[in-house]
Amino acid sequence: MTENKNFFLRNLWYYALPGGQLKPGATIAKNLLSEPVLLGRTLTGQPFALRDICPHRGIPLSCGGFDGQEIECCYHGWRFDSTGRCTVIPSLLESQDFDFSRFRVKQYPVREVQGNIWIYMAADDKADASPSDIDIPMVPYFGDQAYQLAETVKLPCFVDHAVVGLVDPAHSAFVHRAWWWRSPRSLYEEVKQFDPSPYGFTMRRHKILNVPKAYLLVGGVPETEISFRLPSVRIEHVSTDRHTLCNLTTVTPISETETEIHFVAYWTMPWLTPLKPFLRPVVRGFLNQDRQVLLKQQMGLKYNPSLMLIKDADTQARWYYQLKAEFARSLSEKRPFVNPVKEQVLRWRG
Ligand code: FES
Ligand SMILES: [Fe+2]
Repeated sequence: MTENKNFFLRNLWYYALPGGQLKPGATIAKNLLSEPVLLGRTLTGQPFALRDICPHRGIPLSCGGFDGQEIECCYHGWRFDSTGRCTVIPSLLESQDFDFSRFRVKQYPVREVQGNIWIYMAADDKADASPSDIDIPMVPYFGDQAYQLAETVKLPCFVDHAVVGLVDPAHSAFVHRAWWWRSPRSLYEEVKQFDPSPYGFTMRRHKILNVPKAYLLVGGVPETEISFRLPSVRIEHVSTDRHTLCNLTTVTPISETETEIHFVAYWTMPWLTPLKPFLRPVVRGFLNQDRQVLLKQQMGLKYNPSLMLIKDADTQARWYYQLKAEFARSLSEKRPFVNPVKEQVLRWRG
């Protein structure tokens, strides 16, 4: 079965970046879904996002400056506040009095939740986007707490290949070999119950039988629940009687050929926090293993081969494509989204 429709889903919150990367008074220019976006944080701590193009002559606003409150374009010095409203046009005489506040840069809705900055990518440029905050993905258990660890890696592929990698249980034993995770080629038979969940599906809570060594750190026999939701968010919730560890992994399209993967983790084990400097390279190494294999995949995808999705190991990938197609259809038909996933048991060796 071939699934190769390269389009981005709209009207959803996408992960923009871990909040810690955006310091007060700083800006970061990024491409998101092939759009130039200028992310910034005011000196008072508010994150914001504007289209990174000056409405006057089209120069990127990121070429200009930011004083912690307003952006100044480098070409003619027009100034814009963090909502995108034009506040100053230096070339105007005081007598040339007209209302330039209607000159606006497009503003994107952004929210900072649990340390993560999300951006709403609307389908319609002109419509005033009023997204619902309810749909912003959150890890369970940790309330308002921010993540303790964040890592970002760029992947050289279209977003769908990265998502399929995220929900693919069959590659770990081959791609993620490491002493702290799995021994080489140790394949276990897995039987997992899946349920539909908001905009996605969830692997039902269960005891981890073949505990990867890294999870022994949580203490005791851990239970886990893993959920996936559109557009591309995976949340894993591992817990024992004593402790909880959650991670949120998202992939955000940069362009049709590039995607960013963000991994953030939350935990309750106090002794793990000082070990962060050691944890960081481990997480990076893990993400880089995915990056390396996706790079190799690109060598083959150049020839536009038809691809296969097999039962049951690829069922989650198949669900992703079904969820994506249904979401796009529900938008264009202006009707509620109907989750195509049905309760199911999947079996694979992985
Ligand atoms: S191009 Fe930005 S002020 Fe002229
Ligand atoms: Fe992977």
